[in-house]
Amino acid sequence: MRIVIFSRGAGLYSTQSLLRAGLRRRHQIEVVDHLQCSILIEERTPRIYYGGLPLGEMEAVIPRIGASVTFHGASLIRQVEAMKIFTATRAEALIKARDKLRCLQQLAIAGVQVPKTFFLQNTQDLPSVLEWLGGAPVVVKLLESTHGVGVILAESRQTAVSVVEAFIRTGEKVLVQEFIKEAEGSDVRAFVVGGQIVAAMKRQALAGEFRSNLHRGATAEIIRLSDLEERVVKKAVQVMGLHIAGVDLLRSRRGPLVMEVNASPGLEGIETITGVDIAGRIIEFVENGARRLSSARTARTL
Ligand SMILES: Nc1ncnc2c1ncn2[C@@H]1O[C@H](COP(=O)(O)OP(=O)(O)O)[C@@H](O)[C@H]1O
Ligand SMILES: [Mg+2]
Repeated sequence: MRIVIFSRGAGLYSTQSLLRAGLRRRHQIEVVDHLQCSILIEERTPRIYYGGLPLGEMEAVIPRIGASVTFHGASLIRQVEAMKIFTATRAEALIKARDKLRCLQQLAIAGVQVPKTFFLQNTQDLPSVLEWLGGAPVVVKLLESTHGVGVILAESRQTAVSVVEAFIRTGEKVLVQEFIKEAEGSDVRAFVVGGQIVAAMKRQALAGEFRSNLHRGATAEIIRLSDLEERVVKKAVQVMGLHIAGVDLLRSRRGPLVMEVNASPGLEGIETITGVDIAGRIIEFVENGARRLSSARTARTL
């Protein structure tokens, strides 16, 4: 089948891995830079143009949309949906997951445990927020952070107040979160494909660092999730409407807390650490999804 990967970087590990997995399974698979696409909105023949020409027939799309281009990426996926083509990630789910605050709100509403989190619009409430979180240290997060940049451990009350004040003053949106000390600088990344957990790893921050992002030099090892952790991960992706996701958990004293659900999780770390052919699993998922969509379409036209 013809599969298109929306990606800005054909050379990126994740994109390359998906390309190889697609070729191995004898698909016609190609990378399209989603920022070079135009959208024709029309009732009967919605189209996508790429390099001045309509993007030809395709059965499935795998979006790899970076956080900085969510709006464009989601608009394009919406077009793919209008064209009745299978997409590994739906537009609404991508948008929902990209907003950390909304993500946490929806998880909590659905009964999934998350770290106690405050969203502050002014600094007046800060003293009571700190009180409620049990005092410093607390974690201050920019709503838009990725790779751990914009995630700060405020070790004293004074630091917390000045950091939050500075952010709010410069118009940044901030979260203040309880610090899960017992996680000891580690978190768990569970990788989900087609609603199933296909791999999991534990990431450990460098000494003297609390952020366990691999981009911050953290190390990682393969792990087995507990039954409870598995249930939490599955529930989280279900709430977010994602079929492919990286779910990050903090192992806290009161059980697993979902910190983040990533709609476009990188493959390099998890494939290297766990040895699981995740790209292969994604292609398989896409094949099944595209086939199901196509037979549903055929059934409707009969
Ligand atoms: N509330 C917290 N308690 C303890 N550690 C945390 C907390 N929040 C984040 N961290 C650590 O910081 C890292 C980065 O935070 P995260 O919210 O995932 O931001 P980003 O989206 O930038 O990766 C996490 O992987 C985790 O190791
Ligand atoms: Mg993270």
